[in-house]
Amino acid sequence: MVLKYKSYWRKTGLKGKWGNIFLEQLKEYKPKNFLEIGVFCGVTARNTCDYLSQIHGNQFSYIGVDLFGGSQKNYKDEIEPNFLKNQKFSNPLKNIYYNYIIKENLNSLASNKKLLQKYEKNTQLIAGDTNEILKNIDLSSIDFVFLDGGHSYETVLNDLEEIYKSLKNRNKVILCDDYGEASFIKEVKNAIDDFTKSNNIRISIIENRFAKLIT
Ligand SMILES: C[S@@+](CC[C@H](N)C(=O)[O-])C[C@H]1O[C@@H](n2cnc3c(N)ncnc32)[C@H](O)[C@@H]1O
Repeated sequence: MVLKYKSYWRKTGLKGKWGNIFLEQLKEYKPKNFLEIGVFCGVTARNTCDYLSQIHGNQFSYIGVDLFGGSQKNYKDEIEPNFLKNQKFSNPLKNIYYNYIIKENLNSLASNKKLLQKYEKNTQLIAGDTNEILKNIDLSSIDFVFLDGGHSYETVLNDLEEIYKSLKNRNKVILCDDYGEASFIKEVKNAIDDFTKSNNIRISIIENRFAKLIT
């Protein structure tokens, strides 16, 4: 089976070769229950569901957690116009299409739900700050995590600690973005280094970008 990460004419954190490198990891572990922290515009979510449905049929689940900033009901009137103004695209056609014609905020819960509609029964999108909500989500069946949400030291450490409470000693995968030089973020690396050191977990670096932790 040829793995091809599709962009769905949206924005993604895994541009160019990175999407396929990510899919190779799914191919290696074939998870059934997947968690993504940081959904953004849903492109990795959709590619993950496309692949997991190819190998597991209907027997898989995807949970995605994000702030989904522009879609929060109580702030909608204030925040939405600003967010749309700031939704930047290098492709001018995308700018016209998303910001002026259909006026769709690609990071909103509604837009992500639409992209994942085909997998409605397998997917759950949860809006909120992981520092507050991750501890209340049942992660007991998760077997693969893509950690790509908040990039501050505190948030990465919080997310790793919460995830590890459920995955510890279960031989599951936590794939963390932005660890290696290809997309280096110092706070992310420091949090992963401190977390793995205090829990005695080995880090494998994938293509000088992702840090892979086996629980
Ligand atoms: C780099 S993007 C994720 C890219 C996505 N994984 C992909 O492959 O396209 C980071 C996302 O994390 C979300 N985020 C940032 N801080 C967060 C937090 N504390 N809790 C939940 N989501 C957060 C942002 O809203 C943003 O959509």
